[in-house]
Amino acid sequence: MVPLKNSRYLRALLRQPVDRRPVWLMRQAGRYLPEYRALRAQAGDFMSLCRNPDLACEAALQPLRRFDLDAAIIFSDILTIPDAMGLGVHFTVGAGPHFERPLRTHEAIRQLATPDPEADLGYVMETVRRLRRALQGSVPVIGFSGSPWTLAAYMVEGRASRTFERIQRMLLEEPAALHLLLDKLAESVILYLNAQISAGAQAVMIFDSWGGLLSDQTYRPFSLDYLHKIVAGVIREQDQQRIPITLFTRGGGAWLEAQAAIGCEALGLDEWTKIAEARRRVGDQVALQGNLSPALLSAPREEMQHAVVQLLADYGSGPGHIVNLGHGIPPDVLPEQVQTLIELLHQQQPRCE
Ligand code: CP3
Repeated sequence: MVPLKNSRYLRALLRQPVDRRPVWLMRQAGRYLPEYRALRAQAGDFMSLCRNPDLACEAALQPLRRFDLDAAIIFSDILTIPDAMGLGVHFTVGAGPHFERPLRTHEAIRQLATPDPEADLGYVMETVRRLRRALQGSVPVIGFSGSPWTLAAYMVEGRASRTFERIQRMLLEEPAALHLLLDKLAESVILYLNAQISAGAQAVMIFDSWGGLLSDQTYRPFSLDYLHKIVAGVIREQDQQRIPITLFTRGGGAWLEAQAAIGCEALGLDEWTKIAEARRRVGDQVALQGNLSPALLSAPREEMQHAVVQLLADYGSGPGHIVNLGHGIPPDVLPEQVQTLIELLHQQQPRCE
């Protein structure tokens, strides 16, 4: 294995000192880049791009060619697991995901099989291996998965939604069926993340993008308990290196203490969570990733500068901050704006700590 040249991201996740805070951006690869749109056209559609390790590796590298980023994330999607479970996932431009066979009955859930990562999702592992080789240790590779709750929300609804009413109804009317589904998904996520780590992922992130739909009473039994099980089941060391886990819960700012207690290394914060307060609440238990507003990427430079200075000050001194957005880069953002944000972040950071 080639030694890692830039380990800021991994060090910050472990709350070790760094010369400046690492920066990467959720959805750094994607539609806002013209070269990504060309690659997707070459592949035919989004899922075909994900399934082609050569092109998926290229998509992950595109933002790193343009910007000075401290980590690469594999190019894939959280919905690869439902697809491998036979639900038939498609993406049409502008319409989001669509499932041919959404999960609607207890019987369908009972019949669901846990995918074998190498046999059914081998293209993702191949992307990880190629990306590691292509990067030659310049920056670490992040692997990822959706959380059981977030995957279940899409699988039961059958498409994107703001409210995911079908899973909300299942939670109330058929909790046993939902728990069976979440259990199968937790098992699948463990196998999937472990396969990514074995293929070379140096850190992993779990997206609970719809955890915020749950209530104070339902968040723990229907999401956090399964995340706890995943964290306990994931490989935590490879090549003598700790494999840090980041948990990102959109709309989950109320439950940071509980999230920090499940054994992950870092929490991803959405833009509605105050980072200074989050830091006080979690103490030195975990690192924090975030949390500039994605809307900032459409703002004038002065406003961006103000927000950058504010974020760095709000986090304060000491280790454990990974700079990122509170959610992904919106598709209509200009690449020049992303460049400006990264430059401002570099300019504003004292290289010490
Ligand atoms: O650069 C990166 O961040 C890596 C790749 C990545 C994608 N999806 C590529 C993608 C990652 C980490 C994801 C995670 C993902 N996918 C999440 C969790 C993060 C979040 O956004 O909350 C979720 C909920 C999904 C499911 C998903 N994938 C939806 C709802 C959609 C359509 C709407 C949208 O937000 O784009 C996708 C499509 C998708 N995933 C695209 C990309 C680049 C766009 C597809 C296209 O090119 O048409």
